[in-house]
Amino acid sequence: MLKVPHVTSYLTEHFAEDAFGTLAGYEKKGGYAAARKALTEMAPGDVIELVKASGLQGRGGAGFNTGLKWSFMPADSDVPKYLVCNADESEPGSFKDRILLERSPHQLLEGILIAAYAVGACTTFIYIRGEYSFPADQVERAVAEAYDQGHLGPNVLGSGFRHDVVVHRGAGAYICGEETGLLESLEGKKGQPRKKPPFPAQVGAFGMPTTVNNVETFCHVPYIVNRGAEWFRGFGTEASPGTTLFGVSGHVVKPGLFELPLGTPLSEIVFEHAGGIAGGRKVKGVIPGGMSMPILPAGQLDVPMANESLRERGTMLGTGGIMVMDETTCMVRVGCVISYFFRDESCGQCTQCREGTGWLNKIMNRIERGAGQSEDLGVLLDIAAKMEGQTICAFADAAAWPVQGLLRHFRADFEEHVRLGRCPFTASFEL
Ligand SMILES: Cc1cc2nc3c(=O)[nH]c(=O)nc-3n(C[C@H](O)[C@H](O)[C@H](O)COP(=O)(O)O)c2cc1C
Ligand code: SF4
Repeated sequence: MLKVPHVTSYLTEHFAEDAFGTLAGYEKKGGYAAARKALTEMAPGDVIELVKASGLQGRGGAGFNTGLKWSFMPADSDVPKYLVCNADESEPGSFKDRILLERSPHQLLEGILIAAYAVGACTTFIYIRGEYSFPADQVERAVAEAYDQGHLGPNVLGSGFRHDVVVHRGAGAYICGEETGLLESLEGKKGQPRKKPPFPAQVGAFGMPTTVNNVETFCHVPYIVNRGAEWFRGFGTEASPGTTLFGVSGHVVKPGLFELPLGTPLSEIVFEHAGGIAGGRKVKGVIPGGMSMPILPAGQLDVPMANESLRERGTMLGTGGIMVMDETTCMVRVGCVISYFFRDESCGQCTQCREGTGWLNKIMNRIERGAGQSEDLGVLLDIAAKMEGQTICAFADAAAWPVQGLLRHFRADFEEHVRLGRCPFTASFEL
């Protein structure tokens, strides 16, 4: 059974209706009207300006201004230009793109068409995480329907604009979500991130100018074109407009996907929308945006879920994947799980990342076993600091930040393991 998200706004409004996933059902709800409008009534530059004015920030993790990113594509180049839809979604705790791919593949295709027209791309590659076989099937089915009805191909919607879409299934590696690792993998090579510059807008897929955007980012675009930048800015905060999809997992009564305005307090999401902590227990910590984002302690859940506010608390929105942990949770075990993941997924090109992720994991495990020493806490922070900002891609930073967050807010858990020579959290999850 597909999970139907909690509906509070526009993006997921029709997700309870299975027909919304079909071309006919999507068009019945006004689908493809925005693409028609953009392709027949607007100049590509006007579409870019509109998206810039809306303030839409990329929903793939970094929160970069989408319209601005599109404007980096060379406007007058005569080489083929490409668009890439990043559907790799491998960040633990994040599952919003999966639901979008499954429930509304035409919403995604419409956003892609508008973006492709704006940047002058002839082809879009939708790169889908290898494990997402049902979502990939849904997208392939929608692409076939769109070709059948003339919504893709040589004369999109009768506008004279040509566009092709290629669905590419990955082989299941977290690093292929990093945009240049993705491009390498798309080209049939090992998924190892590229040094930048040059950035993809200059040298991207197959050496051509390329824009990479996240699935959810594309899905917001038709609504902006239909309803305008001001309407979009009516949701969220001044710096972070729009709604976003918060995927809530962990020790809550009602885990699920919730579409809410950016800036919604984390406490409202956890205690109202996700029903609070299961079993009547107390909350201990919450990871606000997928596993690579530093954890927040129970006392800081009043934070508005927007990058500008989360940064003030030493963390970020990331992918909006909220992982809730109750009072029984051992934060050293959490550190063991997180550091194991990053050790396993490092592509190995950079010494700080390849070696650093291994050391972090080794020391975390040692502390959890009861064999840690008090100096180990400083060593963990020292390794994490030396991994930050030193490497080809941000994976090493993403591996360092959670360790820093755990030690910033839950140092007492680590000290207690060292003092007792064992893990004191007998009711915590098993490793
Ligand atoms: C290690 C790593 C993994 C990433 N994984 C993803 C991913 O699975 N999906 C995604 O959209 N972006 C991911 N990103 C971000 C992309 O590099 C890129 O910024 C994003 O796709 C741009 O889209 P947006 O501007 O629409 O957010 C990842 C970045 C890093 C450093
Ligand atoms: S930081 Fe890590 S994942 Fe990124 S390129 Fe270097 S070794 Fe590979």
